[in-house]
Amino acid sequence: MLKEKLLKVFAENPNEFISGEKISQQLGCTRTAIWKHIDELRKNGYEVESAPRKGYRLVRKGDGIHSHEIKVGLQTKRIGHEISYYEETDSTQIIAHQLAQNQANEGHIVIANEQTAGKGRLGRTWHSRQGTSVSMSLILRPELPPQKTPQLTLLTAVAVVRAIHANTGLDCQIKWPNDVLINGKKLVGILTEMQADPDFVHSVIIGIGVNVNQSREDFDPDIRDIATSLLLEKNEPVDRAAVISAILNEFELLYDLYLEEGFSPIKTLWEAYSMSVGTNIYARTMKEVLYGYAVGITDDGVLLLRDESGETHSIYSADIEI
Ligand code: BTN
Repeated sequence: MLKEKLLKVFAENPNEFISGEKISQQLGCTRTAIWKHIDELRKNGYEVESAPRKGYRLVRKGDGIHSHEIKVGLQTKRIGHEISYYEETDSTQIIAHQLAQNQANEGHIVIANEQTAGKGRLGRTWHSRQGTSVSMSLILRPELPPQKTPQLTLLTAVAVVRAIHANTGLDCQIKWPNDVLINGKKLVGILTEMQADPDFVHSVIIGIGVNVNQSREDFDPDIRDIATSLLLEKNEPVDRAAVISAILNEFELLYDLYLEEGFSPIKTLWEAYSMSVGTNIYARTMKEVLYGYAVGITDDGVLLLRDESGETHSIYSADIEI
């Protein structure tokens, strides 16, 4: 809590010296406590300059994604207020499922600096190398029938695209149902799972993996040509904690809109960011490959594809190629 407040004071006074006295007044703690926290920040990669009679100045942030580093940029009312952080875990999805079973609140998030067995869609694995990416799972408890939860995947993709634009200025596109691409390469994966009875949703766990500071060599050779990172697209390292808070901020705005007005405004946004709609695509389903014009999505998030004979197919699950 104190660390979070200290980071806020630095964020409010960029590049300026702030006296130890002023900090201790704002934080309501002793100067020794401040000194202790600054020492810890330094151990976590922060560069803090201190000068006699002037105080402290934050020169460079660390690259951590601990709770206090995320909360500095958080503007939400409930999403992301409870954060479980892991230096290393198998999969944040697994932890989030366990927390959800143990009554975790809506908005609780699980974050890992490294996942050793990250889960992707369709039983694939998701690689998240130590310290380079964002791996997080968000617990929701929406009052929705189970068949509507795919809408939350689409909503998440929109939130991520908007957050990345706000944070880095980069423009991404959505590939149905839930890939976020940039210049045709995969930047973000979203995995939505739920705990539900046939007619009641107990919880929805939304897993978000963002490639942030990977170099080309950090990706396994088999995905090197199809994956990218914010670092590779922007040619400079990107602050992971700021990416996380931007995603949570955008998510809450859209989620509240969705709860109030339904899927329609989200669908409009999704179609605007989508590269899979209004163009000819191949859809590789479990049983066939379809080719045709992608007309749009339904309110259930189903992709509608009109083939060359004029027949319209509803696609529930497929890999899309353009
Ligand atoms: C995909 O196949 O595109 C979805 C990838 C989802 C990866 C994220 S990383 C955080 C969360 N934890 C996991 O184990 N998977 C999701």
